[in-house]
Amino acid sequence: MKFYMPVRVFDEKDCVKAHAKDIAAFGKKALIVTGRKSAFENGSFDDVTQTLKDTDTEYLVFSAVEENPSVETVFAAKERYENEGIDFVIGIGGGSPMDAAKAIALVLKHPETDPEYLYDNTKDPSALPVVCVPTTCGTGSEVTGVSVLTRHDKKTKISMVHKVFPKLALIDGKYLTGASHTLIVNSAVDALSHLYESVINAKVDDYVRMSAAAGLKLWAMIKPVLLGERDMTEEDRSILMRASALAGMSIAGSGTSLPHALSYVLTYDLSLAHGRAVGYFLPAFMAAAPAEQGNELLRYSGFEDADDLAAFIDKVFGKQDIPEAELDRTYDVVRNNAAKMKSASFEVDEKLLKDIVYDTYNRR
Ligand SMILES: [Fe+2]
Repeated sequence: MKFYMPVRVFDEKDCVKAHAKDIAAFGKKALIVTGRKSAFENGSFDDVTQTLKDTDTEYLVFSAVEENPSVETVFAAKERYENEGIDFVIGIGGGSPMDAAKAIALVLKHPETDPEYLYDNTKDPSALPVVCVPTTCGTGSEVTGVSVLTRHDKKTKISMVHKVFPKLALIDGKYLTGASHTLIVNSAVDALSHLYESVINAKVDDYVRMSAAAGLKLWAMIKPVLLGERDMTEEDRSILMRASALAGMSIAGSGTSLPHALSYVLTYDLSLAHGRAVGYFLPAFMAAAPAEQGNELLRYSGFEDADDLAAFIDKVFGKQDIPEAELDRTYDVVRNNAAKMKSASFEVDEKLLKDIVYDTYNRR
């Protein structure tokens, strides 16, 4: 058993400004990696750039990260900045910019890199230092080494094999202010699935159970907000970001399982938001899990059982009609992935996988 969480985490109001010196300690020149819009609207970009100015740290900005960033985007950034003398990378935003920041930090460190490098575990995994400033509440990427990238050649998303843990995560719930209810729900369901999948996982241990239990109990406090039963407060935003970080620590300790594996095809083919695609398979996965493993997790997160979770998913996302051909492709991709078939804590054969993909939970 091991507990490896090498990220220095600060979770507090105005933490970017409070930790200016910690950021500046990584070097003289930063590359900021972010998406096209939200970081410029929620105050996170301004806080980071002001902090860099205050510490006389130069910076360049790569703000072309798309949703579900591709390997091509990572290499476009490499070509643009490899001769700029970048010392460290700051990822600001949701999972997409943070995951891209990790991959960019890796390829900037290795000028000889080609796209195969990302998927070759015999290569050196060292990267430039990464600082993450999350502005959504689902990915947990700020505390994991994972970078999930779109592979257009394979028509799906695949994690790069190298683990690039950020050196520093600066978590501030205020960056959720102004986020749409849809984004909050998508992110929060992603975090919930990380919490479940990390425990219903072949690699679970007591340290994962510890962080997941804490995350689930925080998550349950926000459930009424997700259902639209009350407005979100400043404290809720902090709690949800913390639940998401604890969920990230949980998957860093074990991993994700079938709902994530099954979600990637739907996201690639149907442009379904990550949380929504994962949420589609989550109730069936929890129903398939042994009761002694699943029930406690459901209870911690405020659900009576898998049916109650299914009702919640329906309420927040509405009914979803996924074409049969998509489910077929999803089933095929995961059935042929031996590692994913063994990722759950219980045995999954083709029949059970079929149940999870096609069963009544998904056709409710
Ligand atoms: Fe996820």
